[in-house]
Amino acid sequence: MKIACFAGDGIGPEIMAEARRVLAALDLPGVTVWEGDVGGIGWRRHGHPLPPETLAIAQAADAVLFGAVGDPACDDLERALRPEQAILGLRSALGLFANLRPAKMFAGLESLSALRPEVAGAIDLLIVRELNGDVYFGEKAIRTLPDGRREGYDIMSYAEDEVRRIAHVGFRAAQKRSGRLTSVDKANVLETSQLWRDVMVEVSADYPDVAFSHMLVDNAAMQLVRNPGQFDVIVTGNLFGDILSDQASMCVGSIGLLASAALGETQTQFGTKGLYEPIHGSAPDIAGTGKANPLAMILSLAMMLRHSFGREDDAARVEAAVAQALADGVRGADLGGTDGTSAIGDAVLARL
Ligand code: IPM
Ligand code: MG
Repeated sequence: MKIACFAGDGIGPEIMAEARRVLAALDLPGVTVWEGDVGGIGWRRHGHPLPPETLAIAQAADAVLFGAVGDPACDDLERALRPEQAILGLRSALGLFANLRPAKMFAGLESLSALRPEVAGAIDLLIVRELNGDVYFGEKAIRTLPDGRREGYDIMSYAEDEVRRIAHVGFRAAQKRSGRLTSVDKANVLETSQLWRDVMVEVSADYPDVAFSHMLVDNAAMQLVRNPGQFDVIVTGNLFGDILSDQASMCVGSIGLLASAALGETQTQFGTKGLYEPIHGSAPDIAGTGKANPLAMILSLAMMLRHSFGREDDAARVEAAVAQALADGVRGADLGGTDGTSAIGDAVLARL
């Protein structure tokens, strides 16, 4: 099992260290870990946020475990050299179009949600975010108009096959859960969304067992704080999924708790090749202080074991250890506590 670990910037190395301790403790046979530089550190050491040697490692690996990228010192670089291009480049180069972002309330954290405990307690949803298209990857520039004014633009587009393949991921995920799928778009304004909606309706014919509905993204943002328990699986485009998944994280208490999987069509001998990362960023303000919550990173490791290595039992063990640590009162600063990064890692290891 070839695992590429790209820790990245900011708190990335600190949280990755904890995930690797958990991986080591599982003592799985035949694990090989490779490392590579991504993000700001990639740019500093190799002149590029996704150096060719790192990309080659990712291509050869069965799965990628990814920390975080983002470095304020790189904010003024041209866009192609900014740290974020590492993750966007990997998603694109590896064809990782399906992003799974589960959000579930952990027992004991209800009062830490930004929502009322009785509202937050019902959260158990999965955001299926398209990851290879949309306004993220369309033509973009800042240009000067004939009259001298500057204009920024980013082209939003989805081809029908791009919508169809993520639709199938959404419907299949709903079949495995409680059988409800909500497709989120902005079809009242955007043609991209109208096509999205038309294709979703076409694909829904293949899944008569799934209760399928549409929701406009502004309404979805509202419903997510009004009554998040109504959602099971949400399928949506790249930009809306980015925004709604951050929002969902606050509903469960902290962005330090949400893991994600980015999957494509490549099958290895073990499972689906994928990239696994916390949904949070590099948190440069707390980097190096030992305060970062490593749980989203550890939960990303669990998702890797499940989706890329077919090790459901090990994934469930890791998730149970995390849930137990939280139930026992382990709290990082993000949850109003004082437990540091390695203390949280210790707590998970002890329960594992
Ligand atoms: C995420 C992040 C990324 C995104 C950034 C770092 C490019 O916000 O994974 O949600 O926008 O996809
Ligand atoms: Mg985001």
